[in-house]
Amino acid sequence: MDTLLKQLPKIELHLHIEGTLEPEMMFALSQKNNIPIPYKSVEEVRKAYDFHNLQSFLDLYYAGASVLVDREDFFSLTWAYFLKCKEDNVIHTEIFFDPQTHSSRGIDVGEVIEGITLAMKKAKEELGISSYLIACILRHLSEEEGIATLQSLLPFRNKIIAIGLDSSEVGNPPSKFKRLFELAKKEGFYIVAHAGEEGDSSYIWEALELGVNRIDHGVHCSEDSKLVQYLKDKQIPLTVCPLSNLKLKVFKTPKEHNLVWLLREGLCVGINSDDPSYFGGYMGENFEMIAKNFDLSIDEIVKLSINALNSSFLPQNEKKTLMSKIENFKNVTKS
Ligand code: HPA
Ligand code: ZN
Repeated sequence: MDTLLKQLPKIELHLHIEGTLEPEMMFALSQKNNIPIPYKSVEEVRKAYDFHNLQSFLDLYYAGASVLVDREDFFSLTWAYFLKCKEDNVIHTEIFFDPQTHSSRGIDVGEVIEGITLAMKKAKEELGISSYLIACILRHLSEEEGIATLQSLLPFRNKIIAIGLDSSEVGNPPSKFKRLFELAKKEGFYIVAHAGEEGDSSYIWEALELGVNRIDHGVHCSEDSKLVQYLKDKQIPLTVCPLSNLKLKVFKTPKEHNLVWLLREGLCVGINSDDPSYFGGYMGENFEMIAKNFDLSIDEIVKLSINALNSSFLPQNEKKTLMSKIENFKNVTKS
């Protein structure tokens, strides 16, 4: 089963590039850029990753990101992530970054985008992995600041496929960003939003009212049967992140996670790693956790990849090419 899971062609749609910063790289960049971090060793960093909710994680995540300064740093970070993708047979990924986490420290957003997109280009050429970039707006900041950020991204319009919404959810509902998302849609971006991670189902309804193409997380939908039916009928994608939800105590135990229930109800759910350096694993580990705790058939495991591919922003012809890779995998497992 383990080798089968490894070989499954995977699509990742919920991955914060800042959340792939491994402690070793954090130390190296802290020294290179002369930016102090409050840890003495890699072990001490890992020990600090003991979160009790979303905010306790975000505080360390933003502090960690402070060591990222120039385009080479963002290139190294992104390239290291692509090497993990190769190991896990991730064939397409749609990567989030937080422009405001860097612009607030005086870092030029163009440098950030250059570094990340250079690694994306190299990954396509050398590893055969395709990718898109999604800029997330920080919801704990004002809509005005978000709109100014959106405007600062317009010169890089052709490098960014979508605008997202992340950071502290409760108290910062999607409706706070109505104007921003209207502008983003007008500019031709796809839109996505974190909703129903810690927030209740009303956050998901609000995100749907904005016209999002996907809901990031969305696991709190199961408390609202009308919403579950709606998500199923419309096949609105939920980009679910099992290890993240466990680390941040959205679910207390692996068996309480509702991903498999949602899948069997017929919702369009997929598996993603969110912030793998902080949450204990990349795509492979997330699939393993679910397979270990739930009696999934091969068809169900493959369906998670098919759902993710259908939910991606790839054009139809590229979806078709990647779908044949997933179908091939299915045929091999059955022969
Ligand atoms: N939720 C909200 N904001 C985030 C996350 C998350 O899981 N990861 C990085 N920013
Ligand atoms: Zn996330």
